[in-house]
Amino acid sequence: MKKIEAIIRTEKLEDVKRALSRTEHNHGMTVCQVLGFGKQQGFAELVRGQKVVPSLLAKVKVEMVVKDEDVETMIELIQATTLTGEVGDGKIFVSPIENVIRIRTNERGEEAL
Ligand SMILES: Nc1ncnc2c1ncn2[C@@H]1O[C@H](COP(=O)(O)OP(=O)(O)OP(=O)(O)O)[C@@H](O)[C@H]1O
Ligand SMILES: [Mg+2]
Repeated sequence: MKKIEAIIRTEKLEDVKRALSRTEHNHGMTVCQVLGFGKQQGFAELVRGQKVVPSLLAKVKVEMVVKDEDVETMIELIQATTLTGEVGDGKIFVSPIENVIRIRTNERGEEAL
């Protein structure tokens, strides 16, 4: 299993949610409001060598734990939904998940997704 953390534009959240609800890999999601900056340090343009204090921009983080075989599909779905081509579109992080436990039933692993 893998955790997909996608940091996206706030206004893209509804589209991502809608796209996910249409797939069979839609086990669940966690969403939080975050502040952050990327390569441009929170500015639309950054002149090389210029020293600036980074500016924190409001973004949304979507977290999903999925089966290994569903990772690429999910990445494609998120990308297709959030891409504008402008800086600040966001980033997707993928990391391994050791185990999942459904509290109600004590199911473990993929069963618990
Ligand atoms: N290396 C990173 N580690 C943690 N969070 C990051 C990282 N890069 C980006 N983020 C988060 O993702 C958000 C969006 O980043 P952004 O899309 O601007 O990335 P970028 O690398 O600057 O790409 P682009 O050049 O397309 O803007 C940031 O506001 C920040 O919250
Ligand atoms: Mg950026």
